[in-house]
Amino acid sequence: PGIEFGLDAPYAIEYHDSLPSTNDRARELAADGADGVAVIADEQTGGRGRLDREWVAPSGGVWLSLATRPDVPAARAPLFTLAAAVAIADACREAGVDAHIKWPNDVLVGATSENGVGSAGDDATAGRGGRKLAGVLTEMEGEADRISWIVPGIGVNANLDPEALPPGAASLRGELGEPVDRREFAATLLERFDALAGTADRMDGILPAWRERASTLGRRVRVDTSNGPVTGIAVDVEPPGALVIETGEGAQRVHAGDCEHLRS
Ligand code: BTN
Repeated sequence: PGIEFGLDAPYAIEYHDSLPSTNDRARELAADGADGVAVIADEQTGGRGRLDREWVAPSGGVWLSLATRPDVPAARAPLFTLAAAVAIADACREAGVDAHIKWPNDVLVGATSENGVGSAGDDATAGRGGRKLAGVLTEMEGEADRISWIVPGIGVNANLDPEALPPGAASLRGELGEPVDRREFAATLLERFDALAGTADRMDGILPAWRERASTLGRRVRVDTSNGPVTGIAVDVEPPGALVIETGEGAQRVHAGDCEHLRS
């Protein structure tokens, strides 16, 4: 019942019923010179999330990693992560689920761009900006002047049983009341990602699209960075993906960290 081969997409598809992690496989391929291969697995037994977290990835999700070797400076690498988030949000919307992006790359339902108010209307999520449908773990290798390879790893809780999800998580099936066609979903996602990644030499295709789909901008946030927490109003995202936070003592730019939407 997995996603079969033969997806109509701008990437060659390598499908597995089960893998430890599609990112590990795509890294191997990319390091060997592959450019434009999407590794998809029905199940991952050792899925990895950001910040060394485990990513639970049973059968039914869309677990997908891209082996790519774009000819862009390493400083632009964050753009590929933002592009992946935009592509996921668009594929979710096409499937009928109103998804938003939480900086930098979580895709949520029940989050709005209204300041500090969750739209779900349910106490567990109100004010916290929604429940997580999907995330992105990007891994890369390269020199300052050029990426050698980059692997955006995309995890979407597509058809996971909503009853079995941890608190704070959501699935497309849970939101829609029925499963999505994962092939169609993956094809839309890959097409969107490909179109956006093609603009990575300019930045101007990805950032406006990201801003439009973000629920983070205009909200009170706390970002836990390696230098400690930064709290304030998220006002913008700047090239190549920094979040600008108005702290009351001036604007601060954060490049990486865990972002929490706060009640205003
Ligand atoms: C996060 O939000 O922490 C990122 C989660 C990324 C999960 C995906 S699933 C496909 C790919 N393979 C992995 O092991 N991780 C990513």
